[in-house]
Amino acid sequence: MKPHPSSNPDDTLTRVAELLRRAHHVVVLTGAGISAESGVPTFRDAQTGLWARYSPEELATPQAFARRPHLVWAWYQWRRTLIRQATPNPGHLALVEIERRVPHFTLITQNVDGLHRQAGSRHVVELHGNIMRTICSREGTVVERWSQPEGEEPPACPRCGAYLRPDVVWFGETLPPDALQAAIEATATADLFFSVGTSAVVQPAASLPVEAVRHGATLVEVNLEPTPVTPFAHYVLTGPAGTVLPALVRAAWPAPAP
Ligand code: OAD
Repeated sequence: MKPHPSSNPDDTLTRVAELLRRAHHVVVLTGAGISAESGVPTFRDAQTGLWARYSPEELATPQAFARRPHLVWAWYQWRRTLIRQATPNPGHLALVEIERRVPHFTLITQNVDGLHRQAGSRHVVELHGNIMRTICSREGTVVERWSQPEGEEPPACPRCGAYLRPDVVWFGETLPPDALQAAIEATATADLFFSVGTSAVVQPAASLPVEAVRHGATLVEVNLEPTPVTPFAHYVLTGPAGTVLPALVRAAWPAPAP
């Protein structure tokens, strides 16, 4: 089945709202775009993206951490500070509302900021980890308390002495197997799949929307601009997630007149 785009955005919203009301298993894949309106910089947006100022190879690889642990740790500490100041925006909250209304709901996120759970989403699959968790770089165990060293070094694991690191997936690392499995299973059973605020270029997350279509789901994309997913989408809602998603919820479940 090929997309049946409508040139009228209101028509598209109405049609997607209708599908949402009737859906059985709604799966949403989110990327950095959904947190942009909370003030968390995205990765690839030329003006404000983190990668515009730093190269990922310098900061988000195991090799970078081995070469310059203090720089990588300091960069993640900076990102943690930004994220601690951020609060969920209307896009995150609309997804909480959808979860409350549909029979089955799975939220698959590439974001490490934890804002979906903070907003109140319950069934969240974190594909790329969580920046607020810290693990031992040797043993992979979660560490909750450590002593902060003097100077620039990252803190050491209280058990084995290896450096601590954030519990996020770096380039070249594999995804947490349980999260990946949960994402694949949800994708295969979705009848309505949303791809929201992701540039859809980092695998394996990027292939999930197309997999959903292969399994028979209707695919809806919410983004400011076209992505590699766009040609596969049955419906495209162009605009900020913080505006589009609340409008979709209002269209699907209009509030009763006072
Ligand atoms: P990107 O920065 O690659 O893409 C952000 C996307 O969000 C772009 O397509 C923007 O057009 C869109 N966007 C920006 N603001 C938006 C808004 N208000 N509403 C809707 N869309 C908006 O971020 P991701 O796709 O999440 O991985 O990147 C995927 C992965 O690449 C990240 O998880 C990270 C990075 O390398 C790892 O660190 C492993």
